[in-house]
Amino acid sequence: MTEKEELHWGFLPEEEILSSSEFIEKGYLIVDVESNDSLKEIRHTVVDIASSYLGVSANNDVEFLNDFHTAVTVTELNDIRLHLIRSLNSEKWFRKHYWTLVRSYLETLVGNELAMQLRINLSIQLPGDDSSLLPVHSDVWSGDSPFEAVVWIPLVDCYGTKSMYILPPEKSEQLSAEFSQHAKKSSEELFLYIEPNVNWIQIQYGKALIFNQNLPHGNRLNQESETRWSLNCRFKSVFSPYGDKKLGEYFEPITLRAASFIGMNYRYPKTTP
Ligand SMILES: [Fe+2]
Repeated sequence: MTEKEELHWGFLPEEEILSSSEFIEKGYLIVDVESNDSLKEIRHTVVDIASSYLGVSANNDVEFLNDFHTAVTVTELNDIRLHLIRSLNSEKWFRKHYWTLVRSYLETLVGNELAMQLRINLSIQLPGDDSSLLPVHSDVWSGDSPFEAVVWIPLVDCYGTKSMYILPPEKSEQLSAEFSQHAKKSSEELFLYIEPNVNWIQIQYGKALIFNQNLPHGNRLNQESETRWSLNCRFKSVFSPYGDKKLGEYFEPITLRAASFIGMNYRYPKTTP
């Protein structure tokens, strides 16, 4: 443990110190989900909603998702995606199951009094579809709080360009230090500049990616032969500073503790009538 880590983490168990160090040094952590049943239920619900929307039957969840590009056109894609996001988020159990997938890791990395994004997002990347790409960005550049972490859950195995990339912390710091030199670059030019240094995330179904959204990240044209499906949602410590995304509007407390509840509701006695 470094002196700095000792100062902040001295009381944490060894395995939590290891996870924390890895998250800070790599900018992300890939973990086994803590409930395979919850993940399976989420994936199956996605398949159910999408297949009913298209009026087709799905015999095999994995094949249906990976081969989705054979059942849908790029023009139809956004409507289906929005329908899925609305339907999934209207299911009462959905957000709770999502949190269940990574509960202990979030407690270690983010805190045990959490605020969770009200709406979980879904990304569908068809092979060769350039209509819904995320150019290189850091969420903080567009107003997010630097205290947020993103939980990214693949519903299919993700590899190569069927996944996303993250610029590691050390390279990200270098980029920040010289950022004024790149201010006039397009996001494509910026990507080409950082491309040799980015980490492409290889992650299988059954795992979760928790990443530091302050680091530049994004995706590219999916050049693999399968469709990528992934869910993403932000979490932060309830009492950490907020950016543009506020508590109540965008985030909601999900694991507030008794003492915080008492404190938030406390009113000093009136000394005058
Ligand atoms: Fe992002």
